Amino acid sequence: MAIVSSKQPTEPERQPQQQKPKAKRQSAEAPTRSELLQPNANKDEQDRLEEGIRPQRLADYIGQKDLKTVLEIAIAAAKGRGESLDHLLLYGPPGLGKTTMALILATEMGVGCKITAAPALERPRDIVGLLLSLKPGDILFIDEIHRLTRMAEELLYPPMEDFRVDIPTGKGQTARTRSLSLPPFTLVGATTRVGSLTSPLRDRFGLIQRLRFYEPDELTLIVQRTAEILKVQITPEGAAEIARRSRGTPRIANRLLKRVRDYAQVKAAGRIDLEIAAEALEVYNVDPCGLDWTDRTMLSVMINNFKGGPVGLEAIAAATGEDTQTIEEVYEPYLMQIGFIHRTPRGRVATTAAWKHLGYSSHSERS
Ligand code: ADE
Repeated sequence: MAIVSSKQPTEPERQPQQQKPKAKRQSAEAPTRSELLQPNANKDEQDRLEEGIRPQRLADYIGQKDLKTVLEIAIAAAKGRGESLDHLLLYGPPGLGKTTMALILATEMGVGCKITAAPALERPRDIVGLLLSLKPGDILFIDEIHRLTRMAEELLYPPMEDFRVDIPTGKGQTARTRSLSLPPFTLVGATTRVGSLTSPLRDRFGLIQRLRFYEPDELTLIVQRTAEILKVQITPEGAAEIARRSRGTPRIANRLLKRVRDYAQVKAAGRIDLEIAAEALEVYNVDPCGLDWTDRTMLSVMINNFKGGPVGLEAIAAATGEDTQTIEEVYEPYLMQIGFIHRTPRGRVATTAAWKHLGYSSHSERS
């Protein structure tokens, strides 16, 4: 069945399952990425959909100020006209809250939300079944929408444009299509690769919005909010320390908080302050800037083998055993965000801040 998860406006949260993320290629020598710093949801987070921690309303959602402003207006306008929301495309790195935002939109509009991912929509009947199950105003959330097959994508055009689905029937000479009308609904597509969407699909979204990495003070508030929900005692400095090492990503911040909570429970009667947070994160091998083995290897290859760059993406991929897509989608955006690398037309360049972070006081010291 195509539906990964479905939430109705009044029903209590179910225990949905999500599509497994694609397995990552790793070279024999490269250690796998620290689970703690992985921006994609792990099995437990997928199964329980980070339940209980997710903000339910726009007012509880911290950060993404511009996106919230746009959505507040869209919600008020759609409600004022008694219409469904325009189709919305959300893009940006993983772990920043695309699914959460779709669920919030459903709550704010008072409608249901069906959650699926493009790889679950391979057969026409998967898509048709899903579309026919929608109630008026419902939100259909399709994760990894850049991975839709051509056929799946084309099947979605009439529903998006005219709230009608064309069902293929028969084969060969007797092939026909039967048109069925659908209730108005909102497609929310999510992607980490907006550039990979075809323009006909992209053009069918009324709103296209980017999610950005969170600022440290926003992540600090998120850690404090989650700590309150989990009934964990934490000082503002302790929350800021966890935030600083969370790669601008709430999912990682909340995961680190849970591990620091364990440490504090065993070593400090459950109270998290700056010292305990820093100590715990050292134990879990989380670097002060949230870097892991692959980030550090990328930077040290650039510095040691290429005098800081420019270095081509392929060379970085070969040195780390990661595929170029993962480097581009997961590692580079954060390293660029914290100002450790720049992208130039001739390749990637490690900045002075990166040299310093790896323990070299300046470029000249290595040349
Ligand atoms: N938990 C995860 N992401 C959040 C956000 N943006 N605001 C509040 N709590 C969150």
